[in-house]
Amino acid sequence: MKRVLSGMQPSGQLTLGNYIGALKNFTELQHTHDCYFMVVDLHAITVPQEPAALREQSEAVAALYIAAGIDPSKANVFLQSHVRQHAELGWLFTTLTYMGELERMTQFKDKSAGKDSVGAGLFTYPSLMAADILLYNADLVPVGDDQKQHLELTRDLAHRFNQRFGDTYTIPEPYIPQVGARVMSLDDASNKMSKSNPNQGSFITMLDAPDVIRKKISRAVTDSGREVKFDPQNKPEVSNLISIYAQCSKKPVAEIEAMYDGQGYGPFKKDLAEQVVGLLEPIQERYRDIRASGELHSILREGAERASVQAEKMLRATKEKMGFLVL
Ligand code: AMP
Ligand code: TRP
Repeated sequence: MKRVLSGMQPSGQLTLGNYIGALKNFTELQHTHDCYFMVVDLHAITVPQEPAALREQSEAVAALYIAAGIDPSKANVFLQSHVRQHAELGWLFTTLTYMGELERMTQFKDKSAGKDSVGAGLFTYPSLMAADILLYNADLVPVGDDQKQHLELTRDLAHRFNQRFGDTYTIPEPYIPQVGARVMSLDDASNKMSKSNPNQGSFITMLDAPDVIRKKISRAVTDSGREVKFDPQNKPEVSNLISIYAQCSKKPVAEIEAMYDGQGYGPFKKDLAEQVVGLLEPIQERYRDIRASGELHSILREGAERASVQAEKMLRATKEKMGFLVL
């Protein structure tokens, strides 16, 4: 069985972009692959986090994984910090990564732009991500479009290690959806929808109440004109909303265009809101059940125990090949 690994940062509430771009694919892959789904708390602290919020968000993201449909008896769900091998292999890979490679990373450039001081962890973040993936010899990594560059670096590092120390690591492939790999912000379709955007109206979180979702969609920026037409060049805002509609309803774009032909944006936005509410409401209900059940900690403990067994095997093999005295 091929192996899948992915992770999300507990740096805020997960958005509809996280769901459509990545989480939805996690739930589909679990039926055919050996899956490892992490909450990457060690990555989240590359920008300052308030300790109580970090703890709460870590539990929330894990519960949302399960509420979205990940079955913890099929897939390993765990926190990155619970499997110590991540930090250790992360260091080993930091020493194999070139400064120039890290300097080229667009996520680093975006997150550090305009800041007076930037933590070193934000810079070395991709080396830890490579370790996350290679620690399990993952074949496939389901992510949104913005992680493509990090995946490329992971592949380069795996090659580099194999060449320098002998064949050890599988070269992982990205698994990026054809549609929905880049859900854009509701206030400006030139930016991706992001939980760290200070404008709350720019994103929909997976836990937003139905009325909040309706309000955010009714206020979403639309292009001039009134035609519901998928044309990312000339109508980027409406095209983004049509993609979201298509992802939530599983309807093809052409069918959605035909449904709203000549009707203007009003009815389209109203129905879009109901599509999003319809998608998220059952997830939110399961989320509340899981949080109330008190089962989350034992699920995470078991997930981490199983993951550690795999991780330790790869870490040992890596250390032996690099020349550490392994007793
Ligand atoms: P992050 O929240 O940065 O940890 O991202 C977790 C996963 O969600 C990654 O695979 C991202 O590529 C994906 N993702 C985040 N934002 C979006 C978005 N706006 N559209 C599509 N995928 C996204
Ligand atoms: N960098 C990813 C993001 O911001 C999160 C991440 C960390 C990840 N480690 C990973 C994703 C390993 C896939 C595989 O979205």
